[in-house]
Amino acid sequence: MAKKAEPNKAKKAPAPSPQALDIGIPADKLAAITDGLSRLLADTYTLYLKTHNYHWNVTGPQFNTLHTMFETQYTELALAVDEIAERIRALGAWAPGSYSEFARLSTVKEASGIPSAEQMVADLAADQASVVRTARSVFPAADEARDEPTADLLTQRMQSHEKTAWMLRAMIA
Ligand SMILES: [Fe+2]
Repeated sequence: MAKKAEPNKAKKAPAPSPQALDIGIPADKLAAITDGLSRLLADTYTLYLKTHNYHWNVTGPQFNTLHTMFETQYTELALAVDEIAERIRALGAWAPGSYSEFARLSTVKEASGIPSAEQMVADLAADQASVVRTARSVFPAADEARDEPTADLLTQRMQSHEKTAWMLRAMIA
């Protein structure tokens, strides 16, 4: 009896291997960098959402100033998440992109309830500083691997968050 041809078993596409990149960065170093960038992405996305939330819900005599200021900030963060996620992909890893992953990875905590305008500014100043610390913690891995594009991205992110943190602190000084 003729053997039936094996149906072509659908195979899952393998995850791209970091080694296959061959860009001069060993796999273990790539993993350290992309893990760090994933934490930075989670922080940045959570801060984006929180800043947008405050843009919607801020009240009080400073409404117009803060509503506009928060819009400038969340717009900058929205552009940054795309840059960070695409850097992770360029380094061969998958970018996290769900609320559950972001909640697990983020050092920035979600807003609970509706804080006062002054509390919103204080919260965001602290959160901006928290993202700076995360970005700084990834820097040594990028530096050791001579991953200049990631180091450049981290430098830009630290500079932006440090400046925004200063502006927020100045609002309530
Ligand atoms: Fe708006």
